[in-house]
Amino acid sequence: MNTSDSIFRRCGRSGVLLPKVSLGFWHNFGANDPYERSREIVRFAFEHGIVHFDLANNYGPPYGSAEETLGRLMDEDLRPHRDELFIATKAGYDMWPGPYGNWGSRKYLMASLDQSLRRMHLDYVDLFYSHRYDPETPLEETLQALVDVVRQGKALYVGISRWPLPALEFAYDYLRQRDVPLLIYQGRLNLLDRAPQEEGILDFCHQQGVGFISFSPLAQGLLTDRYLNGIPEGSRMTKGRFLKPAMLTPELLERLRELNRQASLRNETLAEMALSWILEQQGVTSVLVGASSTAQLAKNLSVLKL
Ligand SMILES: NC(=O)c1ccc[n+]([C@@H]2O[C@H](COP(=O)([O-])OP(=O)(O)OC[C@H]3O[C@@H](n4cnc5c(N)ncnc54)[C@H](OP(=O)(O)O)[C@@H]3O)[C@@H](O)[C@H]2O)c1
Repeated sequence: MNTSDSIFRRCGRSGVLLPKVSLGFWHNFGANDPYERSREIVRFAFEHGIVHFDLANNYGPPYGSAEETLGRLMDEDLRPHRDELFIATKAGYDMWPGPYGNWGSRKYLMASLDQSLRRMHLDYVDLFYSHRYDPETPLEETLQALVDVVRQGKALYVGISRWPLPALEFAYDYLRQRDVPLLIYQGRLNLLDRAPQEEGILDFCHQQGVGFISFSPLAQGLLTDRYLNGIPEGSRMTKGRFLKPAMLTPELLERLRELNRQASLRNETLAEMALSWILEQQGVTSVLVGASSTAQLAKNLSVLKL
């Protein structure tokens, strides 16, 4: 494995270093995806120092199956390297029927993490997140569940994703007072969506020593050459669930082409420019990319050399 310092960055004011490019399992690692392709992507990632894998209970499809893929990979390839890996999972979105399989209750988070550990064939995760802010559940309840999974040894660190700034501030204080510091915030920051900057979330993380990891840094593929000349067969947009053709308006396409021209002037690809822009923002620890092939991941890793 390449362990060059150029790959890693400290996660806030913590003891944890994370690779500047991390690998997400939202798409391409479910039961409907070819296992050998998923395996090849993960092995390539690991061999290139991409040792942080980001999962959630409901990644697949079907729900849970991305974690099951990781479980199989642990058994077949990764178990000897467990201590070299930083594995995250989350709970917060709909996972199983009824009121205890969604949102932010202690009941849900505790049961979900136990299920995730079983699917991934792990004793503990390195990082457990609340996947989203729940306006109905007292924040204390969600956060105490995070504290307790650490006390139980089921997670080493905790994070939150998509929480608004006031709730982030509350979480930071609550967790710090209980000696389970908030390791990281996961939010969407990319050239098309700067909400975490505009809302002050990135500044808060930077000032308080909380790491920040950007999900969908390529805007699900829009910030690459994927859609500049039409919608290719097999692309995420043809699957249509999270990235719909209607989103690719003429205005957006023109903006993407202009960004692509700017990237060319810098001798970079659009994807490289998009990733390096995020990594240049103060407070950012890592970009959390997805990839449907090893070739895509290889291209995206070139940002580490810029
Ligand atoms: N916390 C949250 O609520 C949340 C939400 C969303 C995501 N996430 C996390 O963030 C991770 C990444 O999200 P994402 O998959 O949306 O990230 P992304 O990096 O913005 O998009 C990845 C997709 O873009 C395309 N792509 C990537 N590199 C390319 C390249 N070099 N050339 C052409 N196309 C390329 C591929 O799509 P094709 O399939 O078209 O090839 C790939 O699957 C997820 O896996 C998950 O772990 C978290």
